[in-house]
Amino acid sequence: MRTDTGQVFKLEDYRPSDYLIPAIDMAFALAPDATRVVATLTVERRQGVAAGTPLLLDGDELKLVRVEIDGKPLKEAAYAVTPDQLTILAPPAARFSLTIETEVNPSANSALMGLYRSNGVYCTQCEAEGFRRITYFLDRPDILSVYTVRIEAPKAEAPLLLSNGNPVRHGELAGGRHFAEWHDPFPKPSYLFALVAGDLGRLADEFTTMSGRKVELGIYVEHGKEALASYAMDALKRSMTWDEEKFGREYDLDVFNIVAVSDFNMGAMENKGLNIFNDKYVLADQQTATDADFANIEAIIAHEYFHNWTGNRITCRDWFQLCLKEGLTVYRDHEFSADQRSRPVKRIAEVRTLRAHQFPEDQGPLAHPVRPRRYREINNFYTATVYEKGSEVVRMIRTILGAEMFRAGMDLYFERHDGDAATIDDFLKVFEDVSGQDLSQFALWYHQAGTPHVTVSSAYNASTHEFTLEIEQSSPPTPSESRKRLMHIPLAFGLVGPDGEDLAFGEVSGATVEDGVLHLHKRRQTVVFKGLSERPVLSLNRGFSAPITLSLEQKPEDRIFLAGNDGDAFSRWQAFNTLLTDALIAGFRRMLGNRQPEFAASLGELAGRIAANASLEPAFRALALTLPAEADIAREIGKGIDPDAIFAAREALARSIATVNEEGFRQLYAELNSDGPFRPDADGAGRRALRNVLLDYLALLPGGAEFAALHFASATNMTDRAAGLTALAHRHAGTPQAVDALARFENEYSSDALVMDKWFLIQASAPGPAALDTVRGLTAHPAFSIGNPNRVRSLIGTFAGANQTGFHRADGEGYRFFAETVLEVEKRNPQVAARLATAMRSWRSLEPVRQGKAREALVSILKVEKLSADLKDIIERTLA
Ligand code: PHE
Ligand code: ZN
Repeated sequence: MRTDTGQVFKLEDYRPSDYLIPAIDMAFALAPDATRVVATLTVERRQGVAAGTPLLLDGDELKLVRVEIDGKPLKEAAYAVTPDQLTILAPPAARFSLTIETEVNPSANSALMGLYRSNGVYCTQCEAEGFRRITYFLDRPDILSVYTVRIEAPKAEAPLLLSNGNPVRHGELAGGRHFAEWHDPFPKPSYLFALVAGDLGRLADEFTTMSGRKVELGIYVEHGKEALASYAMDALKRSMTWDEEKFGREYDLDVFNIVAVSDFNMGAMENKGLNIFNDKYVLADQQTATDADFANIEAIIAHEYFHNWTGNRITCRDWFQLCLKEGLTVYRDHEFSADQRSRPVKRIAEVRTLRAHQFPEDQGPLAHPVRPRRYREINNFYTATVYEKGSEVVRMIRTILGAEMFRAGMDLYFERHDGDAATIDDFLKVFEDVSGQDLSQFALWYHQAGTPHVTVSSAYNASTHEFTLEIEQSSPPTPSESRKRLMHIPLAFGLVGPDGEDLAFGEVSGATVEDGVLHLHKRRQTVVFKGLSERPVLSLNRGFSAPITLSLEQKPEDRIFLAGNDGDAFSRWQAFNTLLTDALIAGFRRMLGNRQPEFAASLGELAGRIAANASLEPAFRALALTLPAEADIAREIGKGIDPDAIFAAREALARSIATVNEEGFRQLYAELNSDGPFRPDADGAGRRALRNVLLDYLALLPGGAEFAALHFASATNMTDRAAGLTALAHRHAGTPQAVDALARFENEYSSDALVMDKWFLIQASAPGPAALDTVRGLTAHPAFSIGNPNRVRSLIGTFAGANQTGFHRADGEGYRFFAETVLEVEKRNPQVAARLATAMRSWRSLEPVRQGKAREALVSILKVEKLSADLKDIIERTLA
């Protein structure tokens, strides 16, 4: 375990390395406990660097076996070695060959970084700094090398031997061993290196690129699960076509392989030509995967594939530039999903995710700019800010420049930087160059942390026909940035007339308004629209054009009008969502005052109208009818959070909507019962989503347990089955129906780990204080394993991240259990532990008693000696 050294890495300290490594040859002799790695590096001293300058290579827990220069063993005095570093004290020439032999133990590697074993399969994970756990190297993304890799292993144990690039040769060896050789002609950073060896089944296909090059596609999974990879394969081919059509980007090797492994720290990894995936994001069929799983698989397959150009062909100069590849690639996968499915529905889902994950990060102690300036542990910067806000920033560039100019900028980016390790400044520069626009104020979106806040009030003057907006922007202070600069905020908008059409307007003063976008640049702007003969209703931040929080003074009637009539589907959803949120906040305040919440009848009626509106796609209706989550409500309230009061208010609103609409909901529920063949596409998923939202409401009414039990028992796919089980376990916990359904589900799927994750998740998110004992008990369940990241995330991650009333028990026991468990996880896997610990990031928004208990739990973690760098960094920043 890498313990904390207190070292802080700073962007301004970046300096090119003294040496380059244009090529590396590696030979792996695989063995479970003692794998030998012989790496031969072609080392070149950079121009202008003094002869004899020491060469410092990174390592991490490495054991050196031998070191040679130009084929001759190096004298002991010529180098210095620790598990963390190999120093060649005085390299002999401007160019030489350095051979390093190391020994590593894949079986003992529970951190899942470097070379490890998952279910007996050898695999690697090198991003960000895992390659240094395989051999000593300049393990930084601006060192680009051509890799040639030879893998040797017992054939029975590992018939499959894969690495990056194209296969070169393979053959038999004495003693039942065999080998394979791979060559990747594209120079790449070490974090993109990959190796896989084991006994796996293969789903094969092929793809012909736009220039007629044939690519062999392979997805490798556990034997017998090949058919479960067919949706992933389909998504891959669609991704390849889409990138050609939308970005003119073609695949560049003869083979593209994907391997699914069951122990993986993240979602998936874009290693050149050999993507390695968490099996959760590969394996699916209607009986084992939900519609959400299918959508995730499609998105992540696309994401990793798109990295081939945005990440691999053009990589990052240093880890401060992580968003260069991640934000951009998320933007690309979002656009892909929008094109494959429903654009408005996708956008609403994206915004919900952004608000649920990025906003609390940006508004709490872990806030950092999309392009950070410092870090202690880079693993802790694979965040919603770098990924999701990073994507929003790219989206804003397109909003500001327009689709055509944006594409021209992307083309220039690929042309100018192919083969480079680039920076955010390089990225912004291409858009400035193609458009002639100055993006320096816009660049603050990369450099300044925090969610900008915009307040708006409006007035209509019937005699002058003027519509006036008073707009003010501010950005709250974030850690180490107390004073903020003013941002360029592009707000898409419409002035909606009584018939729902956008009104035309005349002259505008006070802001640049172009193509339906109002550009804010200053602290205060008074914007006047002339020539409006009727009072418009303002629809602002359409499509969520800017990732901000917005206080818009608006009458409830206007919101109700927008919810039904806005030409922008996102804004229709937003208008209704704001009405719901306002009602829930009012309900919360009544609860705190020991009064029962009350809700306007108009809200329930509007919900009923939306549900029944057949002109709206079912997926949209499902999203509209989904009440803001407890955490969403908490975030809007901001401080003094009592999760029990929020839960009660939300429950009361759900009941009132269900009661008002019982008849309509029952009828629609019955109509949506489709008997046709299962399709995981947007239409099929949308119908199921709507039906399952109705189930959630109907489960709250008398007879709800029977109703949900019937839904569960008659389900023909996992989406409906999981929804039924959730309704039972969350709304009717302890009833015979719930107990029976949980037992049946467990029985049916006990040998399918990924499905058991759903069983863990549903129980871990069951509201109320009893969840803690349930979760504690489930840690002893045979299907649970504290060493497996997916299991830990479904049980512990869900409990801490998605169970407001269970985790935030007033007695603080949830926090105590959590602190203990995080430390237990940390012993094996610091990275997963640190990510888990971020669940505490909003602790300061709790009411004082819970806040005190949360703090105690955090402090108890810090008292442990020898904390990992990963966990210590998160806890210290959370407490700061
Ligand atoms: N680079 C991966 C992705 O976004 C994520 C990842 C980071 C995976 C670090 C593993 C380790 O696609
Ligand atoms: Zn990525």
